[in-house]
Amino acid sequence: MNKSIIITGANSGIGLECVKQFCESFNDKLIVALSRNTHNLQQLPYSNMQMHNCDVTNFKQLKKLIDTVVEEYQICCVINCAGTSYNGDFCDIDNTKIRQMIDVNIQGLTNTVEIILPHMRIQKLGTIINISSLADRYPRPNSAVYGASKAYVKSLSDSLRVSEAKYNVRICNISPAIIDTPLLASLGKNQNHIIAVSDFVNVIKFIYQQPQSVCIRDMVIAPTNYEG
Ligand SMILES: NC(=O)c1ccc[n+]([C@@H]2O[C@H](COP(=O)([O-])OP(=O)(O)OC[C@H]3O[C@@H](n4cnc5c(N)ncnc54)[C@H](OP(=O)(O)O)[C@@H]3O)[C@@H](O)[C@H]2O)c1
Repeated sequence: MNKSIIITGANSGIGLECVKQFCESFNDKLIVALSRNTHNLQQLPYSNMQMHNCDVTNFKQLKKLIDTVVEEYQICCVINCAGTSYNGDFCDIDNTKIRQMIDVNIQGLTNTVEIILPHMRIQKLGTIINISSLADRYPRPNSAVYGASKAYVKSLSDSLRVSEAKYNVRICNISPAIIDTPLLASLGKNQNHIIAVSDFVNVIKFIYQQPQSVCIRDMVIAPTNYEG
């Protein structure tokens, strides 16, 4: 059966760079790019890419879409990049923004895993790469909800890695800091320490390219001169 790789949050930053590098490196696979907006994806020239407007918080929409992919393709990998972040004092962050972080970072990622995992179990093959954050393990007083949402991602990854081991499904948690993306720019972070998004996605590709018998469980990636 033909193989596919699903990438969420694919219209921007890490997700968009994943689409580019995975389309170029794995032209024998269908790269399914999912994002709310697709204007950046529409510029891409790859014949092995399929793009869909999809909000990961909408379970029904996401399931319908993934069900059509599995009719024709085995899903060998999913890279969960969709995420959102707002920082500031806990009491000053608008409730809509707090809900958005919980909805996208927690519910959206869980939806994707919940829909795809049963297929991977049947296949006895698959890789789920969750993009968490360095904030998943260190206190972030100025990004408390964001950090907590990423602690959820890490914890979910850690537990599923154990439960899915018998199905030959790899669950990888990657915790980056300071990657050059529109999200980082929107937070106004110090630009003296920064990792190019292409360098970060090279690491994601490395993780995926390991033999199925090798699971890189948890990886932290930060700029060398970053003191956070
Ligand atoms: N950049 C960093 O330094 C950094 C550090 C730690 C962790 N991360 C994590 O890395 C991941 C990717 O972030 P990024 O830096 O690449 O940010 P980004 O450039 O803002 O990209 C985020 C992507 O998520 C999509 N998205 C947001 N809400 C969505 C929803 N409800 N349904 C579907 N897609 C949705 C956005 O879609 P639209 O284009 O439609 O808005 C966008 O394509 C996030 O989980 C983030 O928390 C990033």
